[in-house]
Amino acid sequence: MIYLDHNATTPVASEVLDAMRPHLETDFGNPSSTHRYGKVANAAIELARAQVAALLGCAADSVVFTGSGSEADNLAIKGVALVRRDDGDHIITSAIEHPAVLGPCRYLQTRFGYRLTIVPVDELGVVDPDDVRRAIEPGTVLVTVMHANNEVGTLQPIAEIARLARERGIAMHTDAAQSLGKVAVGVEALEVDLLTLAGHKMHAPKGIGVLYVRPGTRLDPLVHGGGQEHGIRAGTENVPYVAGLGAACELAARRLQARAPLQVMRLRDRLHTALRSAVPGLVLNGHPDDRLPNTLNVSFPGRDGDSVLERTPSVAAATGSACHAGRTNPSPVLTAMGLSPERALGAVRLSLGYDTTVAEIDAAAAALTAAVALDTSRA
Ligand SMILES: Cc1ncc(COP(=O)(O)O)c(C=O)c1O
Repeated sequence: MIYLDHNATTPVASEVLDAMRPHLETDFGNPSSTHRYGKVANAAIELARAQVAALLGCAADSVVFTGSGSEADNLAIKGVALVRRDDGDHIITSAIEHPAVLGPCRYLQTRFGYRLTIVPVDELGVVDPDDVRRAIEPGTVLVTVMHANNEVGTLQPIAEIARLARERGIAMHTDAAQSLGKVAVGVEALEVDLLTLAGHKMHAPKGIGVLYVRPGTRLDPLVHGGGQEHGIRAGTENVPYVAGLGAACELAARRLQARAPLQVMRLRDRLHTALRSAVPGLVLNGHPDDRLPNTLNVSFPGRDGDSVLERTPSVAAATGSACHAGRTNPSPVLTAMGLSPERALGAVRLSLGYDTTVAEIDAAAAALTAAVALDTSRA
């Protein structure tokens, strides 16, 4: 199998496993305990907090560990909306957000009557900051726009949007689950108040995330209890996973420093060139330049992406389609970008990782090209 689905999840790095193992085997203490076992566990958490903070460029006490990227998104959105209920009831988000952002926004709207403005994107998947500016009202309490899209990889002008929000005292959140470890993500450069990280997109295990919280940003907790994580997220900390995430952040920082994403980008572009020359009419979805270096989303003309991938069992990749009750619908992200249903259903997302090799890319290009030639799904 050639694994080209790193935007879905990544393998756990050996450095990450090494950091986790002692906390699953011998160092099993509760970080809140005052004896030696507790101190060892607590030290592991504080080391990891510093490692995450170093990657994000923030103070360690701005890092709140959560149980997933989805939980971090929910904490940011519901936490700000609820704590600022007396200031207003209006939230702004974009049309291409992950369900972990759109879900809590819709929940607040239907359950508690918050008002929601969903700003559009252009055909490359980019939010226009002017649309955000126009959407802002006196009652706006939160703007949440993702840093990089998971399907097409397009990067958003977050700093520009954040400036609009923060100048008006509106909290700014970005979901950076897809961009961390692939491009430089600094909370000062992005000027955000809240930022989501998801461990399993960057070689830590599934089930661990972070919410960055800028000092002074008010937030109601989702989980009340023993006061862990500065009282923002109660529950005995998942020490092995937290330690693993710390190691993953350190690894990510080293890779960025070594410009490893450039190598990944070269391989991605090699795959694009090979597919483009073999498949007439192939089109790129997403921004040609301002996008994640590992992400290639292309539409095969006159084909269904699902059907092409079924004929390519040696390649693990994703399509933009969502299957509901046996019917295949075009991806909401591609639809929001204004792509026709035919083009959206013809899309395949190929997302590379740091371990992807030239040989794998050439083999994947050959296998996909052969599948497209054989496929008659919409011929
Ligand atoms: C952009 C984005 N946000 C949030 C998430 C959710 O993260 P998790 O799977 O850790 O809940 C994902 C993962 O699919 C994602 O791609």
